[in-house]
Amino acid sequence: MKVTVVGAGAVGATCADNIARKELATELVLLDIKEGLAEGKAQDMMQTAALLGFDTKISGSTNDYTKTAGSDVVIITSGLPRKPGMTREELIGTNAGIVKGVAENILKYSPNAILIIISNPMDTMTYLALTATGLPKHKIIGMGGALDSARFRYQLSQHLGASPADLNAVVVGGHGDTTMIPLIRLATWNSVPVTSLLSNEQQKQIVADTMVGGATLTKLIGTSAWYAPGAAGAALVEAIVRDEKKLFTCCVKLDGEYGQKDICLGVPVTIGKNGWEKIIDIKLNADEQALFNKSADAVRNMNDVLKTL
Ligand code: LAC
Repeated sequence: MKVTVVGAGAVGATCADNIARKELATELVLLDIKEGLAEGKAQDMMQTAALLGFDTKISGSTNDYTKTAGSDVVIITSGLPRKPGMTREELIGTNAGIVKGVAENILKYSPNAILIIISNPMDTMTYLALTATGLPKHKIIGMGGALDSARFRYQLSQHLGASPADLNAVVVGGHGDTTMIPLIRLATWNSVPVTSLLSNEQQKQIVADTMVGGATLTKLIGTSAWYAPGAAGAALVEAIVRDEKKLFTCCVKLDGEYGQKDICLGVPVTIGKNGWEKIIDIKLNADEQALFNKSADAVRNMNDVLKTL
């Protein structure tokens, strides 16, 4: 199994680190445009192999896509991260060209790869990767909801005094501060509805804190977060290479599901060896469906910006 991570910044490197530690690939390539960065980080990670006991062979490359040839899974993290006060959407002008170029270069050497998109604005970058490459829709997966759902479980765990691993909770819709929809009505603590354990005020707080999870970290750190985004990317790689059929919220092409089409948006999907395999239909109530439609409108407006670039 060969995996490539494009972008050796904090998110890409963390993702690669998780992939290596879990031995999800025999060969792992890290690629970046900045001279020496990917080579250096790859070598640094390889020097942890003796300590951590993994056998994955990690190499780095400065923009030489021939090194990525024959990859089964490629994670695209390229582009600018956001700065404090910035929305993910403000990155579109710079990141669209980068993501399009990366996706096209990757497919020249790995025509059968499954692509995982992390670059922001993630929903629009996923849509761009799909339309620019013409790949079958099941091979393009936007990572956002997997991360946002993990952040939702973290927020719930803080209020409940629970283990995040015991919490079942999903965020659907877009991966934006105002477009994501944490479905608290359906969240459970090992099958106990959390709504029966939390006050309305607490529930509102948890939803609000989840939605600005990324922005809160950007403010604290001074740049975009990387541990959870990197781990979320690696969890998707794991589900693909082990054909786990695990259920994640991911940004995928909708063809009428959830009442939307010609858009990539976060919904629960199974992930396995073919990429995303099945969309699971949650029966949204009227309020949730209205939020989902609003989220789709905002993402569609952002997708329209692509035509003007
Ligand atoms: C975040 C970035 C990766 O939410 O979108 O931290």
